[in-house]
Amino acid sequence: MYRTHTCGELSIKHTGTKVTLAGWVQTIRKFGSITFVDLRDRYGLTQLLFNEAMSVKLEANPLGREYVLQATGTVTERTNKNLNIPTGEVEITVESFLVLNKSAVPPFTIQNDTDGGDDLLMKYRYLDLRRPELKENLLLRYNVSRATRSYLHQQGFIDIETPFLIKSTPEGARDFVVPSRMNPGHFYALPQSPQTFKQLLMISGYDRYYQIVKCFRDEDLRADRQPEFTQIDCEMSFVEQEDVLQMFEGLIKYIFKEVKGIDYTEAVERISWEYAMWNFGNDKPDTRFDMRLLNLKVPGYVFSESLNEVKDEFNKLHTSVSLEEFPVFANAETVIAISVPGASEYTRKQLDELTEWVKRPQIGMQGLVYIKSNEDGSFKSSIDKFFKQEALQAIASYTNANKGDLLLILAGKEEKTRKAISELRLLMGERLGFRNKNNFKLLWVLDFPLFEYSQDDNRWVARHHPFTSPKPAQVEAIINNDPVIEDPAAYLKHAYANVKANAYDMVLNGNEIGGGSIRIHQREIQEKMFSALGMNEEEAKEKFGFLLEAFEYGAPPHGGIAFGLDRLCAIFGGSESIRDFIAFPKNNSGRDTMLDAPASIDKKQLSELNIRLTDL
Ligand code: AMO
Repeated sequence: MYRTHTCGELSIKHTGTKVTLAGWVQTIRKFGSITFVDLRDRYGLTQLLFNEAMSVKLEANPLGREYVLQATGTVTERTNKNLNIPTGEVEITVESFLVLNKSAVPPFTIQNDTDGGDDLLMKYRYLDLRRPELKENLLLRYNVSRATRSYLHQQGFIDIETPFLIKSTPEGARDFVVPSRMNPGHFYALPQSPQTFKQLLMISGYDRYYQIVKCFRDEDLRADRQPEFTQIDCEMSFVEQEDVLQMFEGLIKYIFKEVKGIDYTEAVERISWEYAMWNFGNDKPDTRFDMRLLNLKVPGYVFSESLNEVKDEFNKLHTSVSLEEFPVFANAETVIAISVPGASEYTRKQLDELTEWVKRPQIGMQGLVYIKSNEDGSFKSSIDKFFKQEALQAIASYTNANKGDLLLILAGKEEKTRKAISELRLLMGERLGFRNKNNFKLLWVLDFPLFEYSQDDNRWVARHHPFTSPKPAQVEAIINNDPVIEDPAAYLKHAYANVKANAYDMVLNGNEIGGGSIRIHQREIQEKMFSALGMNEEEAKEKFGFLLEAFEYGAPPHGGIAFGLDRLCAIFGGSESIRDFIAFPKNNSGRDTMLDAPASIDKKQLSELNIRLTDL
């Protein structure tokens, strides 16, 4: 037997017990003639005491960091206790030991605040994974999966596997492709999600399906994106949107309780996409804090509902102030402000730094306008030359800026400005401490547009995916209107621009953790949808003929959702990066630096696959 106990389980109640431990050498400390060794395994750390005689033996078999050691001895109460760790009241007085394996000197220290850089940690990921921090992350991930399975099992869902070697699925990214040796010149695609399979399973009658499944997307990577990531993928039959929202709100609350011990009892707030964009400039807003966008000038097309809500206020502002006095505002498509509470004391230097921040290429604005609403009731702004105190006062009153607040204003093209101010809002929220990672806020965003217009391809694209159904009342708008657009600049006037989808996203602390929809389940509507997306009949048949045909054999009404497991874990664990919650992730260029993959393959393999490479 290699061990009687783990390195994390011994305590004062074991005093006097003879035990054998096995693990990795964390540290070796010599004190005169005696030696202390900290032994580590998955469960914790235990101190070993080598007395004088044992230390002499140690000298004959010197240990090093990360050696694999087995030690037998008696549990003894420590004189110098370490109450920071569970085993800190005891140590093992070693009576015999055996080096089970040596270790090369590790390239970085195996502890939470390691001295290893990112590249080194990735290359030696198996050593990185020995660090307690990463161990906790993988445990958290395991617990999230376990809770997920338990909830879905209780609700009657069954786990069904779907294939990885398939044909393209349209989730909007590029496919990873796999050449087929047996079918020369043909390629499989790896699934971007099991979307079509789960719909087929509904047609087969498995009315509650789930799978914790790898998905593959060849897209630009970010902190919250990996080329292979894991979804909690779910689908249900005979459901309406409300049924799906209830079921999966239940899932996330269950995970909160089981994994974090948090009773998230309040109903998850629901807002429309339009409301989100109007108030937060973002379809995944962080609603842990308010600081809403205040639209001083908008074209008003996509925001018909929201504009109606504020029309009176808006008109009042525009009768008292002419924004046109200031050329930057006059020439801008839109002008949007946020009111930052208590920030009127911002210094010139801080404001300059914020201006530089909005000018960075990632944000791409020309400049930043500020209005300080001073404690004494006066206003100081970067546009004093163009606006009198009364005008600044009118803007402050429209935006509900209190004394002591700082108004930050961006002006420019609609989409860019909205995105930029939404980023600025997050930055200011962070600075003011509103984005505490231990404070969790869930949100449903509903009523997404069904289509987006791609200026590049000059056609409509599905905002979610082509299987998402329109709101029932708007099916006619698709059936009765041709997708063709005469004047691309005026695409918003087309009937498709206003069609809303039966789609929903779940947002946690400003991150999209899941998304889904009620699906189309009738062949004619699905065909019409494909044609709206610019696919002719032949193409639709070639790509999705199997699904269209399946719809003819009694497809039930159905809908579902998929959550990003990696994202969920990262947010629960308070980290920005999903990499920390994946055992063997890729780096930002999509490489596994440990395996050195992707790599070239030899000529023989290429020729078996009938592939000839052009000069690179
Ligand atoms: P969607 O494309 O919205 O929907 O994906 C669902 C969730 O998966 C996560 N996610 C990712 N996580 C890490 N890296 C990535 N590259 C990545 N891409 C997406 C997000 C996202 O919310 N078939 C539909 C679901 C459905 O309609 O039921 C789908 O895949 O958290």
